[in-house]
Amino acid sequence: MPATISIDLATVAPKGAATGIGVVIGRNGIEVPGGLSLSVANLAARGFAGKPGEVVAIPTRGGTQILVGLGPVGELTVESFRSAAAVMARAAYTETHLATSLIDTAPAKLDRRAIAQAVTESMLLATYTFTAHKSVVPPRPLNAVSLVVRNPRTFAAGVAKGKLVAEAVLLNRDLVNEPPASMTPRILAGYAERAAAENGLALTIFDEGDLDRERLGGLKAVSIGSAEPPRLVKMVYTPVGAGRSIPTIALVGKGVTFDSGGLSLKTSDGMLTMKCDMAGAGAVISIMSIIARLAPTCRVIGYCCITENMPSGTATKLGDVMVARNGKTVENHNTDAEGRLILMDGLSLAAEDKPDAIVDIATLTGAAIVALGSEITGVMGNNPAFTAQLMGAARRVGESTWELPLFARYRKHLDSSVADMKNIGNPGQAGSIIAGIFLQEFVDGRPWVHLDVAGPAFGNVDEGVVTRGGTGVMVRTLIELIETFERPKK
Ligand code: BES
Ligand code: MN
Ligand code: ZN
Repeated sequence: MPATISIDLATVAPKGAATGIGVVIGRNGIEVPGGLSLSVANLAARGFAGKPGEVVAIPTRGGTQILVGLGPVGELTVESFRSAAAVMARAAYTETHLATSLIDTAPAKLDRRAIAQAVTESMLLATYTFTAHKSVVPPRPLNAVSLVVRNPRTFAAGVAKGKLVAEAVLLNRDLVNEPPASMTPRILAGYAERAAAENGLALTIFDEGDLDRERLGGLKAVSIGSAEPPRLVKMVYTPVGAGRSIPTIALVGKGVTFDSGGLSLKTSDGMLTMKCDMAGAGAVISIMSIIARLAPTCRVIGYCCITENMPSGTATKLGDVMVARNGKTVENHNTDAEGRLILMDGLSLAAEDKPDAIVDIATLTGAAIVALGSEITGVMGNNPAFTAQLMGAARRVGESTWELPLFARYRKHLDSSVADMKNIGNPGQAGSIIAGIFLQEFVDGRPWVHLDVAGPAFGNVDEGVVTRGGTGVMVRTLIELIETFERPKK
């Protein structure tokens, strides 16, 4: 975990701290709560109207006052506060201590505990930096935030929860940002081992010696060209004192610690960011790292399919046929479509556990970036009720998703003349959907959602709660899903 800012609840602003104020637009224009030394007219002259995203920092004798717009009072949501908190933390970056009344500004009709959680998460996520490999670490003056409220006890749980969730998101960012030489399959699996040890999880790890016996034909085909051995990790969380009939959810993550494309080699530009290709497995490990403290009431099984994808004299060749864990045969038409090959074994294993629902998370297709860009997770599923559960969870935590159809008539794009299927469809046609249709062959008809995070998992912008490099996308959504999980109806 990186050194994060410390966040505390307080009833009075500490002396000398910069002040952070949330400004709403009411019926008669902007409303500035608290003792502000500047008039509304003065703010207007500075071009500040209180709209979402607007910020102004005003030096005063008592310390800097940072005003952040929340927008029209009638339109406020938890997301208004999440966004404003990120803007405020970024604007306060050069201060050492920020005191803000943001949470207390929230109207009582909103879920103020959820706002406390969102504001805490947001400030921790927005101020994250990855400095592990800087010989000179750029200073971050801001090290403490006081959330000033009249009644701290009301918000303590929300703040604690926000810290816990942020810890998971930021762990995933660290795992993704680490260079591929120091985040090999064995090292990534080591983080899973640590999560298991710290959370009392049952742990099973398959290694290179287990591939044939366990019939992990996809993981073998992808890993065989690499000097680094693969790992398939299973972690099981069972709630304390759980009865036999508790709901069970399985998470399956793609963990390609570097995707060169294999013999279907990527271009240098296409390969540059491919340390990010383990973001799905990183999300699963990050969630399992906090699961005992989260203490959900359902059973959670985490699978991570971990390997490199490399070209070499031992690499899988085009035209090679592999046998998946569930017995289906797959002809390799492109070694760069490797994610689905390792997930097919992970999903088969997950389905064997007969969980009530399965979610896989993967940086799976460049086509998802073409379709949805860098901020939206592609969602595909075979059970509308469960898909709605997942998308509802995403909406509640402010992560953007969009559903793509598992259009059955496209299954023929995967037809192979020598095996049950091939691993790619027609060039330039519905690439993300084809990948989803491929994965569907391995879930044994169980309720399942596929998350394609190729766009939002990794980026080059510092904006809102997102920072450049790994983003930890969907960690919040999956945590929310686990906490509210209900067995989907068939
Ligand atoms: N890891 C990539 C997908 C990806 C691309 C993730 C860009 C993040 C950013 C995946 O393994 C891949 O290479 N997919 C191929 C599939 C194709 C060969 C059918 C792709 O998208 O080009
Ligand atoms: Mn690939
Ligand atoms: Zn990949």
